[in-house]
Amino acid sequence: MTVIEIEGMSKSYRGRQVLESVSLKVERGEIFGIAGPNGAGKTTTVECMAGLRQRDGGVLRVLGLDPQTDRRELLPRLGVQLQEASLPDAIKVGEALKMYASFYEKPADWRVVMDQWGLTERQRSRFGNLSGGWKQRLFIALALVGNPEVVFLDELTTGLDPSARRMTWGLIREIRDRGATVVLVTHFMDEAKALCDRMAIIDHGRVIIQGTPDELIVQGRTENLEDAYFALTGGLAA
Ligand SMILES: Nc1ncnc2c1ncn2[C@@H]1O[C@H](COP(=O)(O)OP(=O)(O)O)[C@@H](O)[C@H]1O
Ligand SMILES: [Mg+2]
Repeated sequence: MTVIEIEGMSKSYRGRQVLESVSLKVERGEIFGIAGPNGAGKTTTVECMAGLRQRDGGVLRVLGLDPQTDRRELLPRLGVQLQEASLPDAIKVGEALKMYASFYEKPADWRVVMDQWGLTERQRSRFGNLSGGWKQRLFIALALVGNPEVVFLDELTTGLDPSARRMTWGLIREIRDRGATVVLVTHFMDEAKALCDRMAIIDHGRVIIQGTPDELIVQGRTENLEDAYFALTGGLAA
């Protein structure tokens, strides 16, 4: 079943077009990657899917609903971790989870989510005192406390050290294994290769290619996904 369908989506900020024509499909239960250069339009695409921004044109359906017109019905079914996410330094881990749960009609038990993501031992830690790895763990838990069917993760692992990043990969697989569909924006091709069932590369506001990581490698006529990425985006002079 198709969970997200986008056809010819466009978006301008103050007259400057940043999405020209984005088209992609995400199927239920997959981890779908979005890669592309800085400024390509990845975050804007995610924000439109998550009902946080209005597109200018094109078709967009998430769980069969239009994020623009069916927002009230759709938003409780989505979980979002945004690139610029932050919390007040003084808030405690447990308080943040309890507060986010209160935003939803049918949330998961926030204590169970806290436990599932290994956060119980940090329940009374303040956000400002958490390391990067713990913050990411909290953001994942916050994105999941509403029991979402689709989860958006925007550059979740950027800025993490290699071991925290690997640990986060395991957490992302867990989200999917519990039945949610995951949309993952990432700059890391090893991450995309390890996690994504399918992925799209966005460049200059267009999806230039989508498919399985192996299909992208074939299309790029390369031996690995990173080389394919450079070949497909023209990002590195030969
Ligand atoms: N709120 C905004 N107002 C004006 N321009 C924006 C805004 N958000 C993003 N942009 C611009 O839109 C383009 C796409 O941004 P973004 O979707 O964040 O790209 P990516 O996530 O791929 O780096 C960039 O040139 C960015 O500067
Ligand atoms: Mg971005």
